[in-house]
Amino acid sequence: MTDLKIGVIGAGGRGRIARHAHKPGEGSRVTAICDIAPEELDSLKSDYGNDVFATDDYRELLEQELDALFVCSPDFLHEEHALAAMDRVKAIYLEKPMTITIDGCDRVMRKAKENGVRLFVGHNMRYMSIIRKMKKLIDNDEIGEVKSVWCRHFINYGGDAYFRDWHAERKYTTGLLLQKGAHDIDVIHYLCGSYSTRVSAFGALSVYDKLPTLKDGEKPDATFNESHWPPEKCSGFNPRMDVEDQSSMIMQMEKGIIGAYLQCHFTPDSCRNYTVIGTKGRIENIGDGPESPIMLWNRRRGFDCIGDKVFRGGSINNSGHGGADEEIVKDFISYARDGHETVATAYAARMAVATGYCATESLRNGGQPQDIPACNI
Ligand SMILES: NC(=O)c1ccc[n+]([C@@H]2O[C@H](COP(=O)([O-])OP(=O)(O)OC[C@H]3O[C@@H](n4cnc5c(N)ncnc54)[C@H](O)[C@@H]3O)[C@@H](O)[C@H]2O)c1
Repeated sequence: MTDLKIGVIGAGGRGRIARHAHKPGEGSRVTAICDIAPEELDSLKSDYGNDVFATDDYRELLEQELDALFVCSPDFLHEEHALAAMDRVKAIYLEKPMTITIDGCDRVMRKAKENGVRLFVGHNMRYMSIIRKMKKLIDNDEIGEVKSVWCRHFINYGGDAYFRDWHAERKYTTGLLLQKGAHDIDVIHYLCGSYSTRVSAFGALSVYDKLPTLKDGEKPDATFNESHWPPEKCSGFNPRMDVEDQSSMIMQMEKGIIGAYLQCHFTPDSCRNYTVIGTKGRIENIGDGPESPIMLWNRRRGFDCIGDKVFRGGSINNSGHGGADEEIVKDFISYARDGHETVATAYAARMAVATGYCATESLRNGGQPQDIPACNI
């Protein structure tokens, strides 16, 4: 088996996930990287070797002979980079969210279809052992027919990661209900086997816009720092921030399921907590690590936070996001070769964006319900 030649646009930051695809002699090798930060290109040579083609211009990268490509640039560049790449490469791993608008997703989906490109979106949460275990419990009928789903997402690194750099601006993300929420919305859709059809939301920029901003010429530092607490003692925020730091949405979903998703960026702790309620019981996880507990309640009872049974996803490997990063890259590489059916799909990624986008429209229009438009390709 000859190695697939792999390119990476946005090779620093999240683009480092492509290191799982650099396995010379074992099926795939990163041969070309692009990043606008020269220090990232330099440091990545220790991973990919000095002979890796390195450029700060994605057009130059796309002139290389490539079998597959990772697009891991910031969200607002996904559409431009993916559309350009589809003229040159037949398999693309596009980071989530697919793009920052519904129309953008549909343009990407349409071109992939027309050009016969294998398009894969990096919804790595579908590869987390805890999410797989929850999905299995539901599919094994442990809670009966799903009728209700709720997710609470507490984000203690919100002030560091989302309110200092491009993430804080609508023009680069639409909003965090889409940017960050795409993961949770996708998991909700995945667990329930159902997509949202109509949403309503409320949200606000409650905390970070009251705090000291970056000074002229100061570069944003979005690295997580535990000493950045409480928010009121922090500074260095993006002066142009206009995205919400808390939001709550209600979803009407296919099969008569009702969902709710709550996201907050100024909590002291971090936790993802999904509750899925069916006609015979409910499951709920606390945390999304491989050893985080999933409780199942399926007997009539009073209050008991432990549940009738406790499950865990269990560890898969030591890579990022509880082992999901290595798993998703493995799946992408084999998908690039054979086009098999994958756990994460471009259509599901589009539906996560569409739901987050419509919810954002709703929260900026007094909570007016919005219908999710069908995929237009
Ligand atoms: N699936 C996940 O768990 C996960 C986790 C983190 C980030 N992400 C996604 O990955 C993407 C990147 O996120 P990030 O936090 O690493 O962002 P980032 O701002 O750190 O940018 C990523 C890299 O892209 C480079 N870059 C920026 N503009 C570029 C351009 N025009 N051409 C080439 N390279 C360019 C940056 O220098 C950086 O090295 C985002 O879409 C984000 O939503 C996904």
